[in-house]
Amino acid sequence: MSSKIILVTGANKGIGLEIVKQLAELKHSVILTSRNENLGIKAVNSLKEKNLNVDYHQLEVTSDESIEKAFDYVKNKYGKLDVLINNAGVFLENQENSSFFNCDIDIIKQTMEINFFGALKVSKKFVDLLKQSDDARIINMSSGMGQLSEMGGGYIGYRVSKTSLNALTRIMSNELRKYKIKVNTMCPGWVKTDMGGPNATRELPQGADTAVWLATVEDCPTGKFFKDRKEIDW
Ligand SMILES: NC(=O)c1ccc[n+]([C@@H]2O[C@H](COP(=O)([O-])OP(=O)(O)OC[C@H]3O[C@@H](n4cnc5c(N)ncnc54)[C@H](OP(=O)(O)O)[C@@H]3O)[C@@H](O)[C@H]2O)c1
Repeated sequence: MSSKIILVTGANKGIGLEIVKQLAELKHSVILTSRNENLGIKAVNSLKEKNLNVDYHQLEVTSDESIEKAFDYVKNKYGKLDVLINNAGVFLENQENSSFFNCDIDIIKQTMEINFFGALKVSKKFVDLLKQSDDARIINMSSGMGQLSEMGGGYIGYRVSKTSLNALTRIMSNELRKYKIKVNTMCPGWVKTDMGGPNATRELPQGADTAVWLATVEDCPTGKFFKDRKEIDW
């Protein structure tokens, strides 16, 4: 398997950091990005202690200026991008402010800004570098909470942001087919991270597995929603 150039957003901790670690272990060239530079560099150093070398650049997914700088960095250093993993995300709601009856519109907007518009903006900018790859992929980190077939109540902002990300996946996969860029979305399951909390049922390696598989599998499909390497309903 040839080495790929892979950028992961929101990778200073949690599932993003685990994806970077697993991809670096497979000898890919990984660019770990984070909105907070200190936290990102700390994460890079934690991997260095495990003899894993990864590149770093700051990337705040809501900032056009930050996206532009990260794009210029990757363009000048690598000239292309093989895989973009839109992992950055937030879960800002709690039981008191997330139902239809008591939802906080500002929190829903903030959630959409990061989970949906962030992934859209980063993808839109980096597509020019993905076009330079002969096997380009975009992987969107979604959630079962955004699955229409399983939709429950509560957590409007988070749910709608992930349903929107899934719709975006379908739209991008259709529009990018002519450039042979594959676009998929995935659910990592309920994973023990700052977001998932200590009661989550999955450890980090399992949470990162499907993203690593989508990034590296031969003959990658496009326009699908995956969990545990298997296609699931929208
Ligand atoms: N854990 C779960 O059970 C679970 C389940 C389904 C889906 N997911 C999805 O998996 C992804 C990773 O979640 P996680 O559990 O690893 O959560 P996490 O530990 O809270 O990590 C989230 C990451 O996203 C970053 N981030 C947030 N806003 C950002 C922004 N505006 N720009 C750049 N980075 C930003 C965070 O940076 P800071 O450290 O600076 O905040 C952090 O690095 C998310 O998209 C989440 O929705 C998680």
